[in-house]
Amino acid sequence: MIASMPGIKTNVIKKLHLTFALSVIAFIMACSLSSLQAQIKKTSIHFFPQARIFRLDAADVSYVFGINEKNQIQTLYWGQRLSSEDAFSTPQSSAEISSFDPSINTTPLEYVAWGGGLYVEPDLKITFPDGNRDLTLVYVTHTIEGNHLTVSLKDISREVYVQLHYQIDEATGVLRRSVKVQNKTSSSLKIEQIASATVNLPRAGDYQVHYLTGRWAGEWNLQTQKIQPGKLTLESRRGTTSAQNNPWFAIDRGSNDPENGDVWFGALGWSGSWRINVEQDQAQQVRITAGLNPFDFGYLLHAGETLKTPFFYAGYSHKGIGEASRLLHRFEVNTLLPHAPSPKLRPVLYNSWEATGFDVDEAGQERLAEKAASIGIERFVVDDGWFGQRANDKAGLGDWYVNPKKFPHGLKPLIDKVHSLGMDFGLWIEPEMINPDSDLYRKHPDWVLNFPGRPRTEARNQLVLNLARPDVRDYVFHFIDQLLNGNQIAFLKWDYNRNWSEPGWPAVDIEKQKKVYVAFTNNLYSILKELREKHPHVEIESCSGGGSRVDLGIMRYTDEVWPSDNTDAFDRLSIQDGFTYAYSPAVMMAWVTDSPTWVNHRTLSLEYRFLSSMQGSLGVGANLNKWQPEDFAKAKKMIAQYKSIREIVQRGSLYRLVSPQNDSEHSVTETVSEQRDSSVTFAFLHSSTMMYPFPRIYLRGLSPDKMYKIESLDGKLSAATPSLASGSFWMEHGVDVDLRGDFQAALFRLNAINQ
Ligand code: GLA
Repeated sequence: MIASMPGIKTNVIKKLHLTFALSVIAFIMACSLSSLQAQIKKTSIHFFPQARIFRLDAADVSYVFGINEKNQIQTLYWGQRLSSEDAFSTPQSSAEISSFDPSINTTPLEYVAWGGGLYVEPDLKITFPDGNRDLTLVYVTHTIEGNHLTVSLKDISREVYVQLHYQIDEATGVLRRSVKVQNKTSSSLKIEQIASATVNLPRAGDYQVHYLTGRWAGEWNLQTQKIQPGKLTLESRRGTTSAQNNPWFAIDRGSNDPENGDVWFGALGWSGSWRINVEQDQAQQVRITAGLNPFDFGYLLHAGETLKTPFFYAGYSHKGIGEASRLLHRFEVNTLLPHAPSPKLRPVLYNSWEATGFDVDEAGQERLAEKAASIGIERFVVDDGWFGQRANDKAGLGDWYVNPKKFPHGLKPLIDKVHSLGMDFGLWIEPEMINPDSDLYRKHPDWVLNFPGRPRTEARNQLVLNLARPDVRDYVFHFIDQLLNGNQIAFLKWDYNRNWSEPGWPAVDIEKQKKVYVAFTNNLYSILKELREKHPHVEIESCSGGGSRVDLGIMRYTDEVWPSDNTDAFDRLSIQDGFTYAYSPAVMMAWVTDSPTWVNHRTLSLEYRFLSSMQGSLGVGANLNKWQPEDFAKAKKMIAQYKSIREIVQRGSLYRLVSPQNDSEHSVTETVSEQRDSSVTFAFLHSSTMMYPFPRIYLRGLSPDKMYKIESLDGKLSAATPSLASGSFWMEHGVDVDLRGDFQAALFRLNAINQ
């Protein structure tokens, strides 16, 4: 039939052809879409040329920005991961509000220079030699290499280039941003302000910001406040990170539920003066600008030179501030630390600073080493007092020779003894400091930060060596290198016990002197890097009279940090709680010291002190010479217990079930192992009142259907506690512990059974 009807036949054939052609096109489109989707998943960074959109996807996060009609780089989205099919159209700059607020202020830009009519916080401000201070950056080009996106901007007329660098961490979605400024003009220019990045939040009026404040022996207090129109400045002007503010923040929508809701967080990787501004502008836009502190700043960039900023790390969680800190912990351990992704678990160390102070000598340290080894200590550390004429804090810093009276045969006999006891050996140094009463200062009084003819303000009887000077840098590198070459040292406790004053650098031309803020910190990093390369087995702790130099900059070169000189086990609960908002328990050193504590004269049981410290990387700093046999027995048992749970504590996921920051009578932390097959829970009762029982503990992070056995390691569980129950039971029904009295503590563990 069909054959006899040629017209119809042709039509059918045409239709078939058309159908086939359409199917082929659909197939090709489907293929290219799925390959595009696959590409988005695989590379995490993609550029959509038609829409002029950059999209970064990793873990649960999408970060999207684009090039608007003015060639500015404009933020479009930062939040929970979107479908790869979600398309964005080319960004359009925002309209001006009025003649008072031009568009450059109302458009959420990724990086904006001070120019045009900009009134919000600039990322970059430059003065040119001809007096021009206007800078307008526009898109030029970009490159994507693997997981690294570089967007190049340039001033509209001058040869000033700014590269924006983006990298996104596959496992956590933590974004790493920095910029590089290149002066391709023919003359020098002065950078007066420079940030690593600006991040913009979705427009809303209900944000609150969390940040960390403190001082010596009182670090890591969590502050929370509503974001309101205006600016919150977190900063250090001290030349170093500082405990007054730590360079970390988290912002949520005011939910106060630690395990739910949107949280945007950020941390600056810089150990010098820094600033983070959280600004809610006149259009209610919240923007966060993080970078070098512009206070007393001025960086002369010669023709042909470049300046790189520190890294700013930014992350997002839709599961509350609890998950935000777990993401940061994972990022630190798996990506940032020197041995990431598999840094060594922290050994249990002994340090006699609180026991003996400066009074260290061969015989005394050997006696302590024997006692330390008997309880299972793995690393023995000699603190301050072993060098130069160091009898107290008035003399000796700078003279890094072994004190011949205290150690007549050098450090070798002690180190050999420590090794023979099965421990490795660590040593305290404070390389960037000098006492005026030292041979080094008598020889090189010009090596310190100073303004000629002005006072040199001492703190703890010491001055700050100007590490920006190449000769000082060399001196510091060589004395440490020699120390490590000549002795079998496994660990350095690198201290830094004051902040800057009179930050002059008279040895260089006046217009270069303020470079000290950058050159000092970069030299510190370069010394650490070089030492690590030459001595790959040496581990380093960043200490600054406690937690004054803890940041994601120093953590790239150090294995652990000392959060606070305050070792009172009760105070430590809130210090450690605050610390873990930003930093992992895997790097958080925590010593068990004597009771009553020197800090508050508070009396705490040895178990309590151990349980407080066992939430981080355990150390012992007590005077073992005063211990009774039962103390040794107890300590030995608890150190063995710690070793059996340390992998969970140092690598697991931390849940702050009851925060000690909330003035409650209790605090509880739980850490769940990576495989979710075990967890450890530490519960602390500060003070019993009115015979109220300890509130029920609801665990988190377990697999609901797995069966877990519960085991009490310290303290008592309520008599009704089943020995075996499902993850759901432990999370929904909860666990009752039987704690009464003042300063009581308990530790229990869950282990999944094979089903
Ligand atoms: C700082 C450290 C202490 C100790 C002393 C030594 O205060 O934080 O742990 O090392 O210096 O002087």
